Amino acid sequence: MDESRQGEAIELPKGVSDNGKKLYLESYGCAMNFSDSEVVASILRDKGYTTTRNEEEADVVLINTCSIRENAEQRVRNRLTNFNKAKRKKPGMVVGILGCMAERLKKDLLEEEKIVDLVAGPDAYRDLPNLIEEVDGGQKAVNVLLSRDETYADINPVRLDNAGVTAFVSITRGCDNMCSFCVVPFTRGRERSRDPHTIVKECQDLFEKGYREVTLLGQNVDSYRWNMTSKGEIKDETKPTTNFAQLLEMVAHVNPLLRIRFSTSHPKDMTDDVLIVMAKYKNICNYIHLPVQSGNSNNLKRMNRGYTREWYMDRINAIKRIVPNCGISTDIISGFCGETEEEHQDTISLMKEVKYDLAYMYKYSERPKTLAERKFEDDVPEEVKQRRLEEIIELQMEHAYEINKQQLGKIEEVLVEKVSRRSEEQMVGRTDRNHKVIFDRKDKKIGEYVMVKITDCTRASLIGVIVE
Ligand code: 5AD
Ligand code: SF4
Repeated sequence: MDESRQGEAIELPKGVSDNGKKLYLESYGCAMNFSDSEVVASILRDKGYTTTRNEEEADVVLINTCSIRENAEQRVRNRLTNFNKAKRKKPGMVVGILGCMAERLKKDLLEEEKIVDLVAGPDAYRDLPNLIEEVDGGQKAVNVLLSRDETYADINPVRLDNAGVTAFVSITRGCDNMCSFCVVPFTRGRERSRDPHTIVKECQDLFEKGYREVTLLGQNVDSYRWNMTSKGEIKDETKPTTNFAQLLEMVAHVNPLLRIRFSTSHPKDMTDDVLIVMAKYKNICNYIHLPVQSGNSNNLKRMNRGYTREWYMDRINAIKRIVPNCGISTDIISGFCGETEEEHQDTISLMKEVKYDLAYMYKYSERPKTLAERKFEDDVPEEVKQRRLEEIIELQMEHAYEINKQQLGKIEEVLVEKVSRRSEEQMVGRTDRNHKVIFDRKDKKIGEYVMVKITDCTRASLIGVIVE
């Protein structure tokens, strides 16, 4: 997602009185971070904090951060400098850092750089009220303990997205994969799955509040398992086990009008049974985010991804066979350690074979402590990384346009998500396949399903008219 968002105004629950303190919360990075911010807002709301969109009037400023690439961290440092300026005008203001950067840098930001008062890692959010109190008492506060079982399962997140139509629901935390480029296993800890009944309950509550789409979130949703060890052994014989395909089916039953999406799928773990469940339920959207990272098997081996190009293509073919008209998106890294020109060309040829609807494309950025940092040299020159990235982006834009043009003339069911930023007279929604559609609003409301005939398109979106 890579964008910031500040806390919307939230109401205090019944029985909780205003503690007089205002919270300003800003988030960076992936969907999981935005989802975590909703957990943080819930924990602090229950202690009487109200929220503000204006950092200058805040008593507590929290920034939920991402470490995935160096430039993500740089953006956060710039924001922290700004917050510290605001703090000079308002001594007593607490500035805290949450998320992956907090976990990665631990006490450094407090003791060496002295740009924060509080540091809380991704598994320490229940401790935030105490940590803030410690700072108020004149101390610096840190909790970066990672947990083997924290899933925040019982916390009802405060929805910070005010449109009230789509929501994230986290189903697993952490990652056990150890892709060699990735810092996530170090910042988010071991993988653990959340109790399926709390997931279904959260989805039911969302539907009752008017939400019409949930995205089930995990670093690797396919390895979701409840009451099973990572080796597949049953933990408690007296209770049922649940895998990801079964969880999807449970959520699909919440209501046929609740759309279900999920992210991220891992090519090494994505099985046909997930695809079969997708095909069976109309409300599970035909869209899969399946990061490839590279189209070359040697490069994939250095990346420790656990699959080859052939394996990946077998998964793509399974999607195309079992879930026809399925949108597929991906993540690609250019210029990973040792990447040759031929290996880069393999990524280009794989893109041509798959034809992705959407791709998130990055230059490799070396991260401290990762396997790649310890084992390989970051030896692809910056200008080569950049040129390869540009080739990848250029090709992806062509493919996205081509796929958009294939939608012309189709009639699609669109979930209305918001009013267009460009014109009050237009609405924006998404098709099942996750294509953004812009259309004249007529009398339609946010949260409704409408049938839209696709009449035109740009590279980024479809344009259509409502058909009754
Ligand atoms: N450099 C560049 N991109 C990275 N990603 C993860 N780690 C790095 C890194 N060190 C990308 C991967 C992943 C996405 C979330 O971010 O493509 O799928
Ligand atoms: Fe990182 Fe790989 Fe886990 Fe994704 S699957 S979070 S890229 S280690």
